[in-house]
Amino acid sequence: MTNQTKLSQFGQQLTLDSGIFDLMADLGQALNVNPDLLFLGGGNPAKIEAFEQLIADYLHQIADDPKALNQLVGIYQSPQGSEILLDLLVEYFNQNYDWPISRKNIAITNGSQSAFFILINMLAGHHPDAHKHFLFPVVPEYLGYSDQALGEGYFKGCKPQIELIGEREFKYKIDFEKLNITAQTAAMCVSRPTNPTGNMISDQELAQLSELARNHRIPLIIDCAYGAPFPDICYQPLMHPWDENHINVFSLSKLGLPAVRTGIVIANEDIINSLVKVNTIMSLANGNLGPALLTKLLQNNQLDLLCEQHIKPFYQQKRDHLISQIQAKFSGIQYRIHQPQGAFFVWLWFENLNISSTELYQILKQKGVLVMDGYPFFFALPDDWSHKHQCLRLSYCQSDEILTQAVEIMAEVLHGLAKH
Ligand SMILES: Cc1ncc(COP(=O)(O)O)c(C=O)c1O
Repeated sequence: MTNQTKLSQFGQQLTLDSGIFDLMADLGQALNVNPDLLFLGGGNPAKIEAFEQLIADYLHQIADDPKALNQLVGIYQSPQGSEILLDLLVEYFNQNYDWPISRKNIAITNGSQSAFFILINMLAGHHPDAHKHFLFPVVPEYLGYSDQALGEGYFKGCKPQIELIGEREFKYKIDFEKLNITAQTAAMCVSRPTNPTGNMISDQELAQLSELARNHRIPLIIDCAYGAPFPDICYQPLMHPWDENHINVFSLSKLGLPAVRTGIVIANEDIINSLVKVNTIMSLANGNLGPALLTKLLQNNQLDLLCEQHIKPFYQQKRDHLISQIQAKFSGIQYRIHQPQGAFFVWLWFENLNISSTELYQILKQKGVLVMDGYPFFFALPDDWSHKHQCLRLSYCQSDEILTQAVEIMAEVLHGLAKH
């Protein structure tokens, strides 16, 4: 018999059941252990042949060059990140976006998830004058933020307006009337495009948020994990202006590199200095593989080409396939799809379902179809709201055959439920 180790408050906080742990456990089960499951669950990107071929070429080039190999595996990176990459990123954002930034505005992290851990705990929580929170202007939001806070009361969300579009679509919009920024608000945060809904906060909404943030002297965090300029899984053009008050968080994951764990934060010097200090304490240094591959992509001018010619069209085709399957097989079922404007998810709303989305998720899992229950994405909204129990998120990263099969099984289950 072993004595159970007593955990500190920190230990207890981070070992409670967490939505993101369940999500990653489902993902691991489906992608590594039981490949027969039809996996429309977590946020793993698709395998895109042209991209992986390019990465293979770069890896060969590095392996064949003793100096490059030593830099990849044998040298700790500087705290802020690889100097060559910082220079290339400055040039890239100066040229493409007209952002007036220098090296001092950029920090590399081990994945954007860990950048968020730092940002959330560095900005929200205990301050001498108040207990401060993150404010999410549109809920549902990325559930990966939810368990990162090292204390209670770190998150508040704003219930969105729901615009019904035609018979089968809808869109969440920021309800600026209800957006309550107070002296306790540490920062606002939006993922754009949004995980889980595929929503794209419009340029006008972003400008309005930006102005509010500036007036209240709080940062606006823009999570670009799926956004522009890379991987740019955005099905409509969008503006992304520079602002001293914005904290822009990028990631290499959805390009097709989730396993290299590289995030990039671009913000004012003050924020970057603080973030780099925390990151160095937490990680000592960042991994070198992601930065080495991004360096190659930028040096060879391949990054934008890749996004435009391979990544975006790939996901657009997948999205269209999944939606056409849903439209064909869900006839007679009451459902709406959130306007799929970006990322690689379809967000479904079943307003008249006679069971909760959590129960539906469980039934589908038993039938071999893994989707995401929508409920955990409403973590920042404690209010009683039936809508929180009526949504599912489907990822469309798998083959067309898997998507077709999964929709067939879903339709069977939903038709069965409609009869009761
Ligand atoms: C919106 C959003 N932000 C951040 C992340 C974290 O990504 P990573 O840590 O792989 O960069 C994810 C992952 O799925 C995400 O969907």
